[in-house]
Amino acid sequence: MEKNGITYIETDLKGIQLLRSSQLNKGTAFSDTERKKFSLKGLLPPVVETIEDQMQRAYHQYSLQTDDLQKNIFLNNLYNTNETLFFRLISEYIEEMMPIIYTPTAGLAIQHYSDEFRTPRGVYISYPDQDNIDEILNNLSNDIDLIVLTDSEQILGIGDQGANGIGISVAKIVIYTLCAGIDPKRMLPVMIDVGTNNPHLLRDPLYIGWRHSRIQGEAYGQFVNKVIKSIKQKFPDVFLQWEDFGKKKARCNLDQYHDKICTFNDDIQGTGAVAMAAILNASKLTHTKLSDHRVVIFGAGTAGCGIADRICEWMMKEGMSSEEAHSKFWLMDSQGLVTDDRKNLDYFKAPYARPQEESQNWAKEGKTTCLLDVVCNVKPTILIGTSTVNSAFDKEVIKAMASGVEHPIIFPLSNPPIMAEATPENILRWTDGNAIVATGSPYPDIILKDRSISVAQCNNALVFPGLGLGIICAQAKRVTSGMIDAAVKELSDSVNLQDDHHSLLLPKVSNLQEVSMNIAAAVVKKAIAEEAANINPKTDIIKLVNENIWKPIYVPYQQIKQFKASK
Ligand code: NAI
Repeated sequence: MEKNGITYIETDLKGIQLLRSSQLNKGTAFSDTERKKFSLKGLLPPVVETIEDQMQRAYHQYSLQTDDLQKNIFLNNLYNTNETLFFRLISEYIEEMMPIIYTPTAGLAIQHYSDEFRTPRGVYISYPDQDNIDEILNNLSNDIDLIVLTDSEQILGIGDQGANGIGISVAKIVIYTLCAGIDPKRMLPVMIDVGTNNPHLLRDPLYIGWRHSRIQGEAYGQFVNKVIKSIKQKFPDVFLQWEDFGKKKARCNLDQYHDKICTFNDDIQGTGAVAMAAILNASKLTHTKLSDHRVVIFGAGTAGCGIADRICEWMMKEGMSSEEAHSKFWLMDSQGLVTDDRKNLDYFKAPYARPQEESQNWAKEGKTTCLLDVVCNVKPTILIGTSTVNSAFDKEVIKAMASGVEHPIIFPLSNPPIMAEATPENILRWTDGNAIVATGSPYPDIILKDRSISVAQCNNALVFPGLGLGIICAQAKRVTSGMIDAAVKELSDSVNLQDDHHSLLLPKVSNLQEVSMNIAAAVVKKAIAEEAANINPKTDIIKLVNENIWKPIYVPYQQIKQFKASK
């Protein structure tokens, strides 16, 4: 609220309840006047500090934590006690702390979630509660713009994590605020607990979830349907992001609901968008047209197919037919090369299936077609790894790739690093420094031939926060392909490319906040152009985006006046 040009928040909380509200707590930064006004006198030590003083102490305490998991737990505790200080601290140390609150440490924290559980955050809708979903949602305020919904079947390359997976929805929401300034109180992490097939969790006496094997098939579909129906009823305009569903369910849910609600799947569409931006820039460095590429995707799952789809759509936008565009791809999964003689081929892989005759003589006698056979025969210009198979891009594969093209574009995207298809250092060494590389996890700079080379991190956080902010600002009814492409273009254009194939393909994490604002503006503009927005088309977009940004600063509070009923 605003009074005489000063922004303030109205609250009826006081005393210990105010200190216990993570959204309103200022701790030692409550002024003497506020302590008097809100019954806080004596409930805090006498010192009155600034947020900078508090940050100094918090960073000192953070630095004393002995490992990344402890640092993650420390930061989450701070989040649960003082949100403003938490966001201010992680904004200040964004490069250092992002890998602690998000990937890769978030995966470890999720594995330990039940053991380390302290304070609930977000909403759990479990299968046995399927007839009480409205009641659950009615425990919440109506003022929610964004939901991150997970069923936790396939968390960050570490698989089924049951109810512990709420941790990924919470982490994603933190990133939406950290990188794009979306108001944290207007977002909701939601865990739909349909059981778990993870034997460790089912045996763990401390497990916090519903101790049951995963609900599958029709029962699962009906449950998701009920959840979406109730969400739509309670929050008709909400933007819903699907997070870390199993590959078939991720795709089916998105296909089923994309034209019914405002929705987006980061694992499919976000990964596709960030990889696409990196490929656009790699193509600029190699002076190649998108249509000239031959693309091998090793790991045709959620991420791999999402990347293939986005590149394909972009190729079609540049004038290729759907058939021509699909013919530029060779997809591989755990059964080998995706060919048209496969039985029960997933419907989203079918358009990429290669004619079986093409590869019938590629494998050595008695063997099935392997990645090396594919690379030797296809001579790809782009090789992307989303398989979670550590070291799958070995020296032979990389050298074969480099023998077919001057500057091979190689993206080992699997996370965490122990699942990556190759390290950037090996790729650069084995290609005599000629490869153009981006990775899933962050890596330190590489020294090659007396030169220090930075490698781009193909991190979804470069896209989804800005896209989400744009969708909220535009009050978009749907997320269109055009809006995602606008985010891709803005992201690739945000890089100041040098005429050097080692030029960084994507912005650094430290520039994320600025990049996200620009992506948001590009998305709003596109939403207006496509008539997908629900705002005045003449709106000043930059002003709108700025007005929607929440900042981690302490604002003054006003007491809500309690009126006594007159006798
Ligand atoms: P997924 O399970 O949907 O897909 C994995 C795919 O790899 C499956 O198609 C599977 O058949 C295939 N695969 C497994 N073993 C294989 C083998 N030996 N040879 C060839 N293919 C094999 O998993 P999802 O969600 O697609 O994630 C995959 C990896 O990508 C994870 O490590 C994840 O962390 C990473 N990822 C990275 C992103 C980024 O860098 N921005 C974004 C999203 C995911």
